[in-house]
Amino acid sequence: MSETMTAAAPDLFDKFDEIIQIRENLLASGVEDPFSLVMEKVLSPTRAICNGRDTILLGTYNYMGMTFDPDVIAAGKEALDEFGAGTTGSRVLNGTYQGHREVEDALREFYGMDHAMVFSTGYQANLGIISTIAGKGDYIVLDIDSHASIWDGCAMGKAEVVPFKHNDIEAMEKRLKRIPAGAGILVVLEGVYSMLGDVAPLKEMVAIAKKYGAMVLVDEAHSMGFIGEHGRGVAEELGVLDDVDFVIGTFSKSVGTVGGFCVSNHPKFEIMRLVCRPYVFTASLPPSVVATAATSVRKLMHAGNKRAHLWENSRRLHSGLTAMGFTLGTREPQSAIVAVIMPDLQKGASMWEALLHEGLYVNLARPPATPANMTLLRCSLCAEHSSEEVETILGMFERAGKAVGII
Ligand SMILES: Cc1ncc(COP(=O)(O)O)c(C=O)c1O
Repeated sequence: MSETMTAAAPDLFDKFDEIIQIRENLLASGVEDPFSLVMEKVLSPTRAICNGRDTILLGTYNYMGMTFDPDVIAAGKEALDEFGAGTTGSRVLNGTYQGHREVEDALREFYGMDHAMVFSTGYQANLGIISTIAGKGDYIVLDIDSHASIWDGCAMGKAEVVPFKHNDIEAMEKRLKRIPAGAGILVVLEGVYSMLGDVAPLKEMVAIAKKYGAMVLVDEAHSMGFIGEHGRGVAEELGVLDDVDFVIGTFSKSVGTVGGFCVSNHPKFEIMRLVCRPYVFTASLPPSVVATAATSVRKLMHAGNKRAHLWENSRRLHSGLTAMGFTLGTREPQSAIVAVIMPDLQKGASMWEALLHEGLYVNLARPPATPANMTLLRCSLCAEHSSEEVETILGMFERAGKAVGII
């Protein structure tokens, strides 16, 4: 027998006991599990059969409704027939097909930028670009409410991470002031913050970042396709796109498929294709996906009318819910996300279920994904929701809110 007694190693799953308990308590109260909904059939960008019910979709981030666009679908089918189901390879080996080049061309044109690099997801775009350009000895100054993919990119790159209070211009400048002279600095911001649907004061923040010699990355996942005259996002809307060094985006929201990207005018940007591990060490997107994305991105360049209707929908939902007495994440509608703040997880789950029974799907969001421990019902509007559908949605909220005792 060995002389030193070793303690029994813990079960590596013990660390999840708290969340297991929270989930069990929630389900024990009898609510439908908000995190295992199944869409048995998807009828359109705004309707599906969910858990056996005909349901209006108000939580899918399908802002521009491109998932069922006939041209997009036709392009995907054609590519599937001509190029097969997948590339089985990395972009730097056998995984760059004509379609990958075409979607990067479409993105360059969409943004009017020199370089575009497509990743397999938006998560990987943030992970890859942030971790590759900001490494040991560099500083990343970022909003505390940044998306998980941004935080993970920071952790992977091992830069010094300096968070500042959400959307607080002064706090951001204070952090920048303290960074040692000569250090490389990346400021990371989002156009729209997806939890509350609020917009960043990019005009001021980008100007301050530049004053301190920082490079700026803006994640426009929730604004691309919708915000700005050409749908380039909040940086376009606020007139600072030329000062942004890197724009990150996703195909999983307005574009209506899956994938992520970074566009940039940096003269050395192309080297990213060789040094960015989440780009190199993973298989590229299937040909059908890049074909649908390219078609969708090109159509979004000329989608001014859809953008206008989506703004109408967002304003109507926001004003209607406010008038009923719900507490929303923003005073004014700032994006296509309208977040309804719930008193707690239990009430939030009951409200989510009551809406589902009415025939409405929204996203239930809970900590740690949400700021300030909030439970939220996140509604994301679609350009394909008709004005009548928005009125129907408001009626559903009113009945469910009264039944659950929230209004
Ligand atoms: C701000 C932000 N960035 C990046 C992503 C990741 O996008 P994807 O779904 O393409 O991985 C998301 C997705 O939710 C997001 O909200």
